[in-house]
Amino acid sequence: MELWEISFFQLFVTALLSKIVTILLCIHIWLRTTVGRFYSTERMDGKTVLITGGNSGLGLATTRDLARRGARIIMASRKIEVGKNVKEQIIKETGNKNIIFKQLDLSSQKSIREFADDILKTETKIDVLIHNSGCASTSVKKLSVDGIEMTMATNHYGPFLLTHLLIDLLKKSQPCRIVIVSSAYYKIARVDLSNLNPVNTFPFYLYYVTKTANIMFGLELAKRLKDTKISVLIVNPGMCNTAIFKKVPFPLNLIVKHSFKNAEEGAQTTIMVAVSKKLDGVSGKYFSDCRESKLWSFVKNEEKNRIFWEESVKMCKLRPSDPMI
Ligand SMILES: NC(=O)c1ccc[n+]([C@@H]2O[C@H](COP(=O)([O-])OP(=O)(O)OC[C@H]3O[C@@H](n4cnc5c(N)ncnc54)[C@H](OP(=O)(O)O)[C@@H]3O)[C@@H](O)[C@H]2O)c1
Repeated sequence: MELWEISFFQLFVTALLSKIVTILLCIHIWLRTTVGRFYSTERMDGKTVLITGGNSGLGLATTRDLARRGARIIMASRKIEVGKNVKEQIIKETGNKNIIFKQLDLSSQKSIREFADDILKTETKIDVLIHNSGCASTSVKKLSVDGIEMTMATNHYGPFLLTHLLIDLLKKSQPCRIVIVSSAYYKIARVDLSNLNPVNTFPFYLYYVTKTANIMFGLELAKRLKDTKISVLIVNPGMCNTAIFKKVPFPLNLIVKHSFKNAEEGAQTTIMVAVSKKLDGVSGKYFSDCRESKLWSFVKNEEKNRIFWEESVKMCKLRPSDPMI
């Protein structure tokens, strides 16, 4: 190889590396400087909060904060041992003994029905229902026990069914709130209305599809509940270093570790929409970094959202005896 070729190659590699470093630095600065924070000390004494996925990541940070504010919290997730241990840990840390753990597998319609029956028997009201649970798979295609693609079953159909089964209790609890944890990455995915059980689609992409589904569901839910005092508030927590990103490969895992929000920062917007009295009467809105944020128009297509709702009713096998919204 000629000398001038080596120096040209070196120059090219150096320029490329410096560009990559500059881009990563810009991403880092942008991510770190846009973190929103909810500074209010508003209390939640006397309020009952039902949060799915309260045992890990953003859900755990939300539960811990709401427990400090005095709320009575029902944490619902799959892993019984983890749930019980986290419950004890939160009681110890916050001094709030009103923390309950109940098992719920959102990928199973049977589990959701059993959980909802239990809640209807034991609870007199829910002031805030937080749909926080979520799962993401990189490449492994999996079906739920009901034969539904696993990411769609857990992240969309599960919360959809649970909301229906709890709606009468929520109506009794008015004014109350339903919080849906979505993601700004809804922008890169579309719900395919002709394939609502996408068993052959790449699971990693389906995670983003479910975050779009969360928004379509939230907007349609807000529309259907407009004559009630049940508000629906949709949240983008931002990019956060939680267990959901634990399988991200090198070198992307370095960005996750060093630039993403920690769980406590990521939970701020969820906490704000669950707590803030300033949001009384606000519904059908989307929040990011503790501010209301605009949604792209494709998720606001009312006809598509209505069709998606009707198809979700079928997919969840809602029965004539179940409450309809
Ligand atoms: N991290 C981010 O950057 C980010 C960004 C945007 C949106 N979000 C959203 O934030 C929410 C929380 O995610 P995270 O980042 O905190 O992740 P995480 O630490 O992995 O927590 C996920 C939670 O979901 C629960 N869960 C998973 N599958 C479930 C099932 N079948 N039934 C019931 N609960 C189930 C888990 O409980 P078990 O341990 O019991 O399974 C866990 O508590 C998700 O909706 C996610 O999409 C996260």
